[in-house]
Amino acid sequence: MSPSVTTQETVVRPPGLQLTINGQICRLDTGSSVAPTTTLASLLREHFALTGLKIPCDQGACGACTVIMDGKAVLSCMVLAVEAHGHEILTIEGLPSDDCIVKAFAEQSEPGYGTALQCGFCTPGFVMTARALLDRVPSPTVSEIKEALSGNICRCGCYAGIVQAVLHASEIMAKASAR
Ligand code: FES
Ligand code: FES
Repeated sequence: MSPSVTTQETVVRPPGLQLTINGQICRLDTGSSVAPTTTLASLLREHFALTGLKIPCDQGACGACTVIMDGKAVLSCMVLAVEAHGHEILTIEGLPSDDCIVKAFAEQSEPGYGTALQCGFCTPGFVMTARALLDRVPSPTVSEIKEALSGNICRCGCYAGIVQAVLHASEIMAKASAR
């Protein structure tokens, strides 16, 4: 019986990275500037200065690094930069300034009951998760909102206010589309 032959897996990398970030096509030379282990979160922050997303845990446990990739909310610390090759990325910087979710959070930024943000550290992640939800389900129920936001942590404990803000944003959207 002949001995088994172990073949070494060939790692194929694209010659460079190309991705669309906030509507702009971006190209990077993978070999020189982006290590194979670089995450999408680090790429966005360090190469493109898109610092809205935060990387508190870097292990998929807090949601603060959430961006939208091809229409879906993703934890950018759990996506390698090379995996984003050829994909469309939307970060909080790419939202229009009058985005209804940003508006709803801003309107609930005063301290007290219903506050959707205090320190604001978690806010970009919540906003992007909520954006992906409302793009998919324009009028979500409270439980759908809670389910969608269940991977996002707010250390200031603004959960009730955040749910209210997302509900409010969906009402703003509904009013705008009824006009
Ligand atoms: S930094 Fe990505 S989930 Fe916490
Ligand atoms: S507002 Fe401070 S962590 Fe959420």
